[in-house]
Amino acid sequence: MTIATARLELQRLHPHFAAEVRGVDLARPLDDAVFGRILDAFNEHAVLVFPGQDLDEERQIAFSLRFGPLERSIRSHLPRSVSRPEISDISNLDEHGRMLDPADERARYNAGNQLWHSDSSFKRVPAMASLLHAREVPPEGGETEYADLRAAWDALPEARRRGLEGLVAEHSIVYSRGLIGYAYPPDDAVTVPPVRQALVRTHPATGRRSLYLGSHASHIVGRPVAEGRALLRELLEFATRPALVYRHRWRAGDLVMWDNRCVLHRGRPWDETKHRRVMRRTTVAGDGPTVPEPQEPEEERR
Ligand code: OGA
Ligand code: MN
Repeated sequence: MTIATARLELQRLHPHFAAEVRGVDLARPLDDAVFGRILDAFNEHAVLVFPGQDLDEERQIAFSLRFGPLERSIRSHLPRSVSRPEISDISNLDEHGRMLDPADERARYNAGNQLWHSDSSFKRVPAMASLLHAREVPPEGGETEYADLRAAWDALPEARRRGLEGLVAEHSIVYSRGLIGYAYPPDDAVTVPPVRQALVRTHPATGRRSLYLGSHASHIVGRPVAEGRALLRELLEFATRPALVYRHRWRAGDLVMWDNRCVLHRGRPWDETKHRRVMRRTTVAGDGPTVPEPQEPEEERR
C-alpha cells in the first residue's frame, strides 16, 4: 500500500527525541513497508505518539506483536478489568469498572509508576518496548514524562563516561516498591528476585550508547550499597533534568510507544478519587540479558 506509506507523517516533539506519527491506522494490518518505516522512526526517536487510535485489546496485541514476543503481566492474579495476560491494566478501576480507593493494594502498587523507571528492568531479560493506549484520560494531571538516556550519556563528560563503563547495577521491584512504602507480599517477592543490569547499554539498531537506570536500580554490584545508591541518584537527576524530558499530555485514543532500552518514564499524579484514568499497556520482551550469564547471587554486597 504505497498510499499508506506516502501518508505517514512524522513531527518531532522534542529537540532530542519523541515524534508524533500521523497517517496510519494501527487497528488494521500494516504492510511491511509501513511497518518498516515505523520501526525506523522508533529506533531513531525512541518515543512515538500515534494520536486517534481506536484499539481494543486484540488489536493492540496484534500491532505490538509486530515488534516481537510480548511479556505477561506479573500481577495478573489481582482482579483487574483486562481479559488477556499480555495486557497490563494501568487504570484506577477495579474489575467491575469502579474507581479504586487510593488505599487499595492495586492503586498503591500502580503508584510505583510515578517514579522514573524503565519497564521490567527488574527482570533478567528486561523489556524492549512498551505500548500504552489511552482509553479515558483525566481533565488535568495524569501526564506521562519521558527522559532520553542517550542524550544523558552524550551529555556526560568523557572522563565521567569512562568511569561508568562496565558497571553493573542490581535491580529489584521489591526495592523500588519499598521506596513508595509498598511492602511486596513475601510470596510474590520470591518470584521477582534481584537481577543485574549493565549501567551503560548500546542500542542494537543504532549503536548509540545510553545510561540504563531508574527506580528499580538499587545499588552498584561490587561497591558499598550507600556509595552505589548515591551514584545512581546523581545520574538519575542528571538524566531527568528538564532539558532532557518530554511531557506527554494524553488525549483519549493516543497510543504512545517507547524504547525501554534507552528511555525512562514516569506517570504524573492526578485526582484519583475524582477522575478515571484508563490505560492499557502491552510490553514487548527484550532479546536477552544486558550482562553475561550466569547471574550468581550477589556476594560482593557490603
Ligand atoms: C507504564 C507506566 C505511567 C503512566 O504503563 O508502564 O509507567 O503515566 N505508566 O501511566
Ligand atoms: Mn512503566
